[in-house]
Amino acid sequence: MKKFPANFWWGAATSGPQSEGRFNKKHANVFDYHFEIEPEKFHNQVGPDVASNFYNSYEKDIQMMHAIGMNSLRTSIQWSRLIDDLETNSVNQEAVDFYNNVIDTMLAEGMTPVMNLHHFDLPVELYDKYGGWESKKVVDLYVGFAKKCFELFGDRVKFWATHNEPMVVVEGEYLFQFHYPNIVDGKKAVQVAYNLNLASAKAIEAFRQLDIKDAKIGTILNLTPTYAASEAPEDQEAARIAELWNNKMFLEPAIYGHFPAELENLLTKDKVLWETSDEEKAILKANTVDFLGVNFYHPNRVKAPDVAPNSVGEWMPDRYYDAYDMPGRRVNLDRGWEIYPKALYDIALNIKENYKNIPWYVSENGMGVSNEERFKNTAGMIEDDYRIDFVQEHLEWLHKGIEEGSNCFGYHMWTPIDCWSWLNSYKNRYGFISNNIHTQIKTIKKSGHWFKGVAEQNGLSD
Ligand code: NOJ
Repeated sequence: MKKFPANFWWGAATSGPQSEGRFNKKHANVFDYHFEIEPEKFHNQVGPDVASNFYNSYEKDIQMMHAIGMNSLRTSIQWSRLIDDLETNSVNQEAVDFYNNVIDTMLAEGMTPVMNLHHFDLPVELYDKYGGWESKKVVDLYVGFAKKCFELFGDRVKFWATHNEPMVVVEGEYLFQFHYPNIVDGKKAVQVAYNLNLASAKAIEAFRQLDIKDAKIGTILNLTPTYAASEAPEDQEAARIAELWNNKMFLEPAIYGHFPAELENLLTKDKVLWETSDEEKAILKANTVDFLGVNFYHPNRVKAPDVAPNSVGEWMPDRYYDAYDMPGRRVNLDRGWEIYPKALYDIALNIKENYKNIPWYVSENGMGVSNEERFKNTAGMIEDDYRIDFVQEHLEWLHKGIEEGSNCFGYHMWTPIDCWSWLNSYKNRYGFISNNIHTQIKTIKKSGHWFKGVAEQNGLSD
């Protein structure tokens, strides 16, 4: 038996915008709005209106999660739901009641609530009025919202995250056009990356000023380890820059309170460096995280780019590296993402050796599969053995990392119940529990039953 540390978190992650549904919301977030104006961009034109109906069924849903062995759950508080007046940060009482009920239900089920404050869901009015995360005014409004959350829920929520995958905002919205507003602007992208780091540090500062008993705050990053295609110096250099941009731009400020000098030099040379000040640098320095959440899905394999780094045109970070598909790599059924469980071990040792061995947990890991109905048995249960193998292998490598001293305290799957996913809507299903989107009937998959066994014995059978 491979045992995990005592009090290990066995759980899963979701987010407000992907699970709650748009019920009773005063403000639209950027995804709500994008669906209003361009529904055809969303798979089968399914928007976030109902999602997995968590707003109405949170009680039953949380009980089901508990029934499959989960002792913790991460979700997010939607800024666009909680706040009534976005300028003064007054709150919407129905939303306060809703989040109170969600938190109390988790606690009644013996589950640790982990609350995240930003999961790509900026209120769209703040984009229209100020340019969203491009603006430092929005950073301060976000800190006001965060402070409200700490004051309202900090008596019961002891684990907070400032952002989820902030890099997706930078790349999806400002470079690679996969999220609204689909802008291509390297200079703005870089400023947004900086402002998101600053927002995290300022929220941490506000959190510490409140001095909430036993509470901890961190951030959640998609740390995708980079592997070079070869030992050739140009491939190695490509991997080094990809690592700087994709991981260190958020990881180093979170842990050390400053940006890597090499990254600043590169951005300065390319004339896209962010605007900062001594005062902000001091805030970043003084407000690093207590713990880290790491989302991991697939590795990042890179090679030297086909385009020379000094080429003209809009600034893009990937002028320094190209994605590379390793021949013979294992992929995730029809989704095409590489499966490489050893990366979790590499992440564990990287944090141990280079990032102060800070406490961390796997805040997302998972396998998105389309048409899972094809794996349904006659009793109506999805037999997702591929997901069981996926989780088992990742846990084995994680276990090895923990045995070698990495300070990992939990494993959360994305996601407990099949939920809505951005432009892909319901195309790829990730849950331990399936959801019929027509009836909202939820059924435990084979992997959910399997997970219960792992959680109950706090380990993997040999
Ligand atoms: C990461 C994101 O945090 C989540 O919102 C998304 O749905 C999953 N990955 C699956 O792609």
